[in-house]
Amino acid sequence: MSKRVFSGARPTGRQHLGNYLGAIKNYVALQTEYQCIYSIVDYHALTTLRDTSELRHNTYEMVLDWLAAGIDPKGTIVYVQSHVPQVTELHLLLSMVTPLGKLTRLPTFKEKIQQQPDNVNYGLVGYPVLMAADITLYKADLIPVGADQLPHLEFTREIVRTFNHHFGDVLVEPQARLTEIPRVMGLDGVNKMSKSLNNHIELAAPPDAIRKQVMSMVTDPARKYRRDPGHPEVCNVFAMHKIYSPDDVERIEGECRNAGIGCVQCKQLYAEHLVAALAPFQERRAAWAKEPDAVWDVLADGARRATEIAAQTIAEVREAVQLP
Ligand code: TRP
Repeated sequence: MSKRVFSGARPTGRQHLGNYLGAIKNYVALQTEYQCIYSIVDYHALTTLRDTSELRHNTYEMVLDWLAAGIDPKGTIVYVQSHVPQVTELHLLLSMVTPLGKLTRLPTFKEKIQQQPDNVNYGLVGYPVLMAADITLYKADLIPVGADQLPHLEFTREIVRTFNHHFGDVLVEPQARLTEIPRVMGLDGVNKMSKSLNNHIELAAPPDAIRKQVMSMVTDPARKYRRDPGHPEVCNVFAMHKIYSPDDVERIEGECRNAGIGCVQCKQLYAEHLVAALAPFQERRAAWAKEPDAVWDVLADGARRATEIAAQTIAEVREAVQLP
């Protein structure tokens, strides 16, 4: 049997270019080689959310983007974390073998305390335990993650070893699969592209909105005037040309350095290439959006298939723990 891939993402609504190049593109590619399970982790979202009114809507919009991007729900299991409640049981059982100090020492936890000092809730401390439960519930082998999640993966591996040591070889130790992901910068050219900083380009944005956003991108700060030579290696727009303009990238690099091409022209070219690259995505998205029920059906079917695996694992775990 082929190895099993698992990944989770919070329901953040419409996805942007950073989400696509950093995660979704990779999710799609992994489907050809592995059995993939992709979860929309709504419980995890609750660790930082107080206003939950957008959860359903954000889940729907995100799944739409995933499907339009090429996640194939026939082979791949796409489901909402809370639709498979077995994860909460495994979370509880794993929590019993988790030393509290391990959780409070994690860099991700320390960051969260800084970000929300007035909401350091119990669920937040247990965030990595829930993530370990996600992964081990499906006995996943490979976890595609960004570098920021590596401490969580290492934590999961340790918890699996501890659990198996106490109760027998039941859970599978997963491996992180760190893929070469481009660091996609926001329109400001300074920060990573993110929805919360509002420096992002949505995959579903209308072409004219995309053009306008691209034209607002900050380029090489050292290039003040049109006649100044540019420095493609520090330019945010050039970084995107590398991805979206494979046939022109050498010429653009040369003409930027010798001021043959200006930033405005360079951005116009990128905008057209990006709009063209997103067109098939946007068509598929529009087709799915005509049938919202079909999108929810994908999630219902995903939950059903996920539950089959989860129920089996939980039965083995309960047996191993010798719960009466
Ligand atoms: N913690 C991950 C993030 O913030 C999301 C996540 C939850 C996840 N469960 C997971 C990722 C399981 C990989 C595997 O990005």
